[in-house]
Amino acid sequence: CGIVGYIGKSDGTNVIVEGLKRLEYRGYDSAGVAMIGRDGRISVVRCEGKIKELEARLAASPLAGTIGIGHTRWATHGAPSDHNAHPHRSGPFAVVHNGIIENYADLKEELLGKGYEFTSETDTEVIVRLLEDEWKQCGSYEESVRRTLRRLRGSYALVFLNEESPDLLVGARQESPLILGVGKDAFYFASDIPAILHHTRDVVLLDDGDVVFVNRTGYRVESLDGTERQPDVTVIDWNPIAAEKAGYKHFMQKEIFEQPRAIVDTLRSVLDVNREVLRFSDLNLDASLVHKLRKVFLVACGTSYHACLVGKYLLEGLCRIPVEVDLASEFRYRKPLLDDQSLLIVVSQSGETADTRAALKEGLERGAHCRAIVNVVGSSLARMAHGVLYTHAGPEIGVASTKAFTTQVVAFYLLALHWARTSGTISDPEFSEHLRELLALPRKLEEVLDRADVLRDWAREFLKVEHFLYLGRGILYPIALEGALKLKEISYIHAEGYAAGEMKHGPIALIDENMPVVVLAQKGELYEKMLSNVQEVRARGGRVLAIVEGEQDPRLGESTWQFPVPETSPWLAPVVFSIPLQLLAYHVADLRGTDVDQPRNLAKSVTVE
Ligand code: G6P
Repeated sequence: CGIVGYIGKSDGTNVIVEGLKRLEYRGYDSAGVAMIGRDGRISVVRCEGKIKELEARLAASPLAGTIGIGHTRWATHGAPSDHNAHPHRSGPFAVVHNGIIENYADLKEELLGKGYEFTSETDTEVIVRLLEDEWKQCGSYEESVRRTLRRLRGSYALVFLNEESPDLLVGARQESPLILGVGKDAFYFASDIPAILHHTRDVVLLDDGDVVFVNRTGYRVESLDGTERQPDVTVIDWNPIAAEKAGYKHFMQKEIFEQPRAIVDTLRSVLDVNREVLRFSDLNLDASLVHKLRKVFLVACGTSYHACLVGKYLLEGLCRIPVEVDLASEFRYRKPLLDDQSLLIVVSQSGETADTRAALKEGLERGAHCRAIVNVVGSSLARMAHGVLYTHAGPEIGVASTKAFTTQVVAFYLLALHWARTSGTISDPEFSEHLRELLALPRKLEEVLDRADVLRDWAREFLKVEHFLYLGRGILYPIALEGALKLKEISYIHAEGYAAGEMKHGPIALIDENMPVVVLAQKGELYEKMLSNVQEVRARGGRVLAIVEGEQDPRLGESTWQFPVPETSPWLAPVVFSIPLQLLAYHVADLRGTDVDQPRNLAKSVTVE
């Protein structure tokens, strides 16, 4: 979900709606705005559907005011509908909320007992009714906010309006992201940086337990017991243009094309090319720790999980250290055997995914050394871990992750090289050779991107099928999983990724002319085996689409569709092979006319477990 709040000198309605549009990728099943107008009263406009719907409603019944809040929702409690859309109201108050209140049922019962009536099924409405109740009892707005927050269990980012205090905007954060933007004549709340990047790059990254009181001239950050703290103002170095489509039809398409640049930025952030040194300023992984570690755990969700699967090949292959990979939603419940010789690395684009946060918490509690690979500076995971390695993908808006993924893989590679050199599992000349390969990578990706049209032709041909199979081996097995995930996320075609060697144990039963099979044909020791798999598919009438390294290969069969990609080191093949799969998924989805950037039922960042 997305939150925007505004307090300033000019009309904030537009700022809020524009901010919501930039957050729409976080959730998009309903939206709403509340402003305190000239009459000193709160007016709310909200509706089911996307921000476009909200804009239409606002055109019919305009709002204006210099203080207000807005929200775009991804339903957790209560179906998407007008009455479940935020903001929610009670008495003089209105609120927008991200997160989940776990004890909402108990609180609701208590409030129903006191005669409060509810007009939605949301847990959010409970918060604002409770606030009204506390306020009636204590009479002070600020104190009633504190009292309300102390009674909530679960996660929240909240921004409150109160028409009795029209010069005060109040925000609070607990396990759900919220930042305060500090502008020249205005302050902004937002759940994510792109919402306010056009107005200010100066932000206060709020911590769990923070409550912020903002008036028209300044702000005060407190903890729940009322103690004040003086947080730093962080300057965000993202260019606001990076969060625009810049002539591309979709964010996803733009982000696919940004990958060479994103990778260069990620490399530059740690690599001193002239001196051939890697410097990880915030990672805290020095030689003494590397020597002490016996096992690595890589944990993430979705696409970031696939990056972890590649990370396992890189770390085990180059550093000879055992690695386990887990889905975050599974990790904590399997009581992982962690100790002070274990390194837990959580990986996340947003740095806010609830399951991944819970996994990191588990690691911290069990005494593991904990690090995070994340894209968003100052995000929760970055702050919770003992060290962080930032990917420098820039803002990723398309729900289906592309550049965040490939920069995660590059980050793993850099980490593995650093580790391998520290532990002595690779020699200095080998290290230099790896660096040369890495530096050649962006140009190879450009070469693939230059031939994107070919994949549009493929997409046209295969657009109507209902199932796809993706096969990969070795370090490209995770890329088969990721390719299938990309396709299903945005085109709604059922797709499965498989280790090519497993095809004979099941999926081969499904193969006929209606089930195209994408094979990732990397040259090297597994290539011949992949050729056999291709023959097995063709013998059953299946149509093969091969991403092939180097030249087209007649041995793949005449009828096989072939897309050559530049040869690269086996360690970097996951990045090179990802690009055509992203483009294929993108073009299939675009030609099928789905909502590429905001596919149904998904959200960019899932801050609920
Ligand atoms: C959501 C997104 C995916 C993403 C996953 C993990 O499901 O739709 O694209 O891979 O969350 O997100 P994270 O921000 O932790 O990488």
